[in-house]
Amino acid sequence: MAAEGLVVGDEREVRIGTIAHGGHFIAHSDGRTLFVRHALPGELVRVRVTEVARKIVRADAIEVLEASPNRVPAPCPWAGPGLCGGCDFQHVSLPAQRELKEQVLSDALRRFGRLSDEELADFDLAVRELPGHPDGLGWRTRMTWATDSAGRVGLRKHRSHDVVTADRCLIAAEDVSAPGSAAAGRVDREVRGRAWRVGGADFWQVHPGLPEALVDAVLEFGVPAVGETWWDLYSGAGLFAAFLGEAVGESGRVSAVESSPAGVKAARRALHDLPQVGLEEGDVARWLRTAPGHPAGVVLDPPRSGAGCEVLESVTERAPDRLVYVACDPVALGRDVAILGGNGYRLANVRAFDGFPMTHHLETVAEFRKDL
Ligand SMILES: C[S@@+](CC[C@H](N)C(=O)[O-])C[C@H]1O[C@@H](n2cnc3c(N)ncnc32)[C@H](O)[C@@H]1O
Repeated sequence: MAAEGLVVGDEREVRIGTIAHGGHFIAHSDGRTLFVRHALPGELVRVRVTEVARKIVRADAIEVLEASPNRVPAPCPWAGPGLCGGCDFQHVSLPAQRELKEQVLSDALRRFGRLSDEELADFDLAVRELPGHPDGLGWRTRMTWATDSAGRVGLRKHRSHDVVTADRCLIAAEDVSAPGSAAAGRVDREVRGRAWRVGGADFWQVHPGLPEALVDAVLEFGVPAVGETWWDLYSGAGLFAAFLGEAVGESGRVSAVESSPAGVKAARRALHDLPQVGLEEGDVARWLRTAPGHPAGVVLDPPRSGAGCEVLESVTERAPDRLVYVACDPVALGRDVAILGGNGYRLANVRAFDGFPMTHHLETVAEFRKDL
């Protein structure tokens, strides 16, 4: 059949290749590259095409003809082709999920970060399990339930507004796992003995073990010291600013920059005992244009799209000694590694966490040092 002949609904038998970012796997058919969900590398599967675009063909594995040893029965009855789009890896053993995420991170640093295999060999890219949820279930502290036109409640299908009717979510924590139970109001959280109260719509990591793991890595990589000046860019409710503030003490200074007024308000409540932390409400790029001085260190925790050229160039112009980057998207991190490399900052350390079991997502903390 001609390359352009593939249409939605076509079925093909394909051998699955490597993982691609986004929870799908590469296969080839009809002269096209297919991005296949619900499969695993090495498997022979029957796929059904779900979307055909100019550059991309998407497909679901609907029958497994030769299974990978890493395949397991999905714990969730709503996971699978055409069902809930929330999880990508319910059919994969948890150790194999983490290995797949490590491959995605490694690939992103090589392809987008332009690091050689020799450079990558210096880093431990293993994606670490977080404590508390050994089966990868029951960790998600926030949920958004959807309602279809008939008023039935459930979860959205992959890349669709259609709703799969469901009466619980297995990755959700007990108190938010059923429709109607989701806490839309304020939630109380504690990290390293410090308390936060954040609004239901404000940013806060959804895995209960992730904030502490990220703070530990940020402090270990950044080594903030008494009297220093630090910037916490994209600071949310002030998670990193709080512990940077404790580390630099009253003789130091932390500027935390966040665009969401609600995030700044939550930070103001939680960090009221830290006069050395200044909370700046606004856009990071704009704030950097007139930011005062030369910080000893900078923490960046941008949204999924990454920090980008303008922000990173403004930061590196101020020549901080230490730069710690918290990334929720490995490809955006890779792009920003390349930008930082071009501005005199080399990757010095990486620590990745499985903050989103059963999904393709991971969280990475990266340390950069100024080239001498
Ligand atoms: C990944 S969250 C990190 C929040 C915080 N560091 C934490 O760990 O809880 C990114 C934050 O950046 C904020 N944000 C997004 N774009 C921004 C911008 N251009 N300027 C300032 N803040 C921004 C969002 O509101 C969000 O709170």
